[in-house]
Amino acid sequence: TSPAASAPLKILVANPRGFCAGVDRAIQIVETALRKYGAPVYVRHEIVHNRFVVDSLRAQGAVFVEELDDVPDGVPVIFSAHGVPKSVPAEAERRELLYVDATCPLVSKVHRQAERLIEKGAHILFIGHNGHPEVIGTFGQVPAGRMTLVETVEHVGALTIEDDGNLAFLTQTTLSVDDTAEIVTALQARFPNIQAPRGEDICYATSNRQEAVKALAAKSDVVLVIGAPNSSNSLRLVEVAERGGARATLVERASSLDSTFLEGARTVGITAGASAPEVLVQELIALISSGRDVEIEPVTTAEENVIFKMPRILTVD
Ligand code: F3S
Repeated sequence: TSPAASAPLKILVANPRGFCAGVDRAIQIVETALRKYGAPVYVRHEIVHNRFVVDSLRAQGAVFVEELDDVPDGVPVIFSAHGVPKSVPAEAERRELLYVDATCPLVSKVHRQAERLIEKGAHILFIGHNGHPEVIGTFGQVPAGRMTLVETVEHVGALTIEDDGNLAFLTQTTLSVDDTAEIVTALQARFPNIQAPRGEDICYATSNRQEAVKALAAKSDVVLVIGAPNSSNSLRLVEVAERGGARATLVERASSLDSTFLEGARTVGITAGASAPEVLVQELIALISSGRDVEIEPVTTAEENVIFKMPRILTVD
């Protein structure tokens, strides 16, 4: 068929997508610290799970390391948005390092809830993904043995809890809303007196992006999620899109897209995880649009206006 006869490719772009307020703040913290203290500024763990973001901060003078032991004495260090165990700021203080904590305030909120529950003698069941830095950070807020990880519904049946009289659950902020609801139902069936968190632990950005990708998947043949393979919330967006009936895949950058993935698709949905910058979305749209007719439309399910304050240490002279 001639191009004139074929219908344009429809590109639907999810709204909201991409950066959340916690990621935005974490990146601003590194940039502000670089301006205020000068390079190098050390960052413990990838500030947010995105290689593009990490590389561009590295180019400005940030040095990324995995542990505090890798930070030399006398240089400022920033803790990533995912949060850190209490032992990390304690060690930074012992070494008299100047540190700035970029933990997302919504992760810190879960940390404080965990502390309060432990003070009241509760045992916590924590719903999350083993090995994720947020999970390591939250476990590091409470004494060893007082919190148990729950990853799946099957896991709930296998739990051996000695005293189930004072149980509570909390969750990671970037989980699948639907999977978590199933795990919570299983927990409540098995432990009818289990205390639920006061508000939602899954954050507004995670649930809004999942809601938007659901709406996108319903209208798209394929869904492309810009995000990193170690970004929990991005992986959840791929799963939600697949469950919604679309073929979906994670795309780190436009250049890594396997173009055969789009074969036969008339409508392509695009979204981005909370740690993926908008330039990567625009780069992907440009690539898909090049050499063909496209119609680009937003699919909007929520408006966001959340902004988090910068830490005081960076705003005072
Ligand atoms: Fe915070 Fe949620 Fe973003 S916990 S870092 S606002 S994904």
